[in-house]
Amino acid sequence: MNLAILPTGDGSHTLYDAVLNETYHSRHGARHESEHVYLRHGLQYVLSGRRAVRVLEVGFGTGLNIWLTACEAIAHPSVFFHVETIEPAPLSWELVCQLNLFDPPEQGLAAQQLHAAPWNEAVRLLPNFRLWKHCAPVMDVPFPAAFFDVVYFDAFAPDKQPAMWTPAVLARMFAITAPGGVLVTYCAKGQVKRDLRACGFVVEALPGPPGKREMVRAVKVA
Ligand SMILES: C[S@@+](CC[C@H](N)C(=O)[O-])C[C@H]1O[C@@H](n2cnc3c(N)ncnc32)[C@H](O)[C@@H]1O
Repeated sequence: MNLAILPTGDGSHTLYDAVLNETYHSRHGARHESEHVYLRHGLQYVLSGRRAVRVLEVGFGTGLNIWLTACEAIAHPSVFFHVETIEPAPLSWELVCQLNLFDPPEQGLAAQQLHAAPWNEAVRLLPNFRLWKHCAPVMDVPFPAAFFDVVYFDAFAPDKQPAMWTPAVLARMFAITAPGGVLVTYCAKGQVKRDLRACGFVVEALPGPPGKREMVRAVKVA
């Protein structure tokens, strides 16, 4: 087994992949990172005034970002959430259920329901929340052009998995982002920002979660 459970700075757990020597979330705070980068500066930034939102996550992993997104759907019953996520290496629920990430559990959809949902088909898990999990590498899924309002780009870091951060992958993310939509990521490396700009995004460097000076929000100007 290559994965170990690690506590992080805010008391929530993450997973450590010994082969990559990389964690699934920030060691400074897994929950805090997800809430700050993907929810506050991604989803909540685009949500205002909408009746529907289309979300894509790259890297489902533990399901934390999608669980937090389902909590937002419960908090906004008049907004329809279409949520897609990609993961070529699903984690077992037996492992994920040991993580204290989904707290309080009664706040949203049970995290187990997200993990138990079938792969490669869209399923309605709440009246206003549809989930479509793709079990495939990111470049193998034929997403429609100009479709997603927010992309959570949560790949392993560029020095650990450089194939996820190539100009070709980032250009694909630009192509499938709707005009006015955004891509958010914890990674604020100079090369990533330059490559996002070269694709056509307007790149904003925002204050990062605890332990990180910056994060990135890349806007596809309408
Ligand atoms: C930083 S972790 C994501 C953490 C996740 N969002 C969470 O909240 O637990 C990166 C994830 O990307 C997945 N991944 C690896 N290669 C991928 C690929 N080619 N396409 C999409 N996802 C990939 C990994 O298996 C891992 O689950």
